[in-house]
Amino acid sequence: MRRIAAITALALMLAGCDQNMDVQPKYNSYSYAPLFRGSSLRSPPAGTVARGDIERERETQTKPAMTRELLARGQNRFEIFCTPCHGQTGEGNGMVVQRGMPHPTSYFDPRLRAADDQHFFDVITNGYGAMYSYASRVAPRDRWAIVAYIRALQLSRHAALSDIPSKERQKLEVSQ
Ligand code: HEC
Repeated sequence: MRRIAAITALALMLAGCDQNMDVQPKYNSYSYAPLFRGSSLRSPPAGTVARGDIERERETQTKPAMTRELLARGQNRFEIFCTPCHGQTGEGNGMVVQRGMPHPTSYFDPRLRAADDQHFFDVITNGYGAMYSYASRVAPRDRWAIVAYIRALQLSRHAALSDIPSKERQKLEVSQ
């Protein structure tokens, strides 16, 4: 009996704990705050740099070195974010396009083959015509990785036998 009374008392005491932060004095966003003589939402002090901004800016400015890992990452990101419209090969016939989205220019178009890496990076960052920006979904380093992969796609249809290292070329010539 005593135990039940103790448990009931404890339960009542715990129920009483709910009051804390719900009822403390506080400002709601955009409400008038007499303390600041203005909105309760304060602007950051001049010169404030958001966390991660400097690193992001550095990654935007520096193209990473071309490695097998970078290409693999680029392929992975391309397949997630770009194939729905640009298709697996970059011809621009992805499923969304087959369902009515305007057909993007094929990556094999002479204009896009001649375009520099920065153009592809900027299209991902800012969007282009009917295509929206991917800046919030694809981090700068991954944008460079995707650009590298697009370059590999373009090369895949325009490589000459002489582009292949001689050791690998011998293997190809033997197997023919
Ligand atoms: C929802 C569909 C869609 C997705 C997803 C998409 N794009 Fe596009 N993209 C388009 C369309 C549509 C155009 C053509 C826009 C226009 O000309 O108005 C385009 C154009 C482009 C162009 C050509 C720009 C030029 O100079 O003609 C590039 C490069 C490109 N996209 C890269 C990408 C990359 C890289 C991704 C993935 C990060 C991506 N797109 C994802 C729809 C998409």
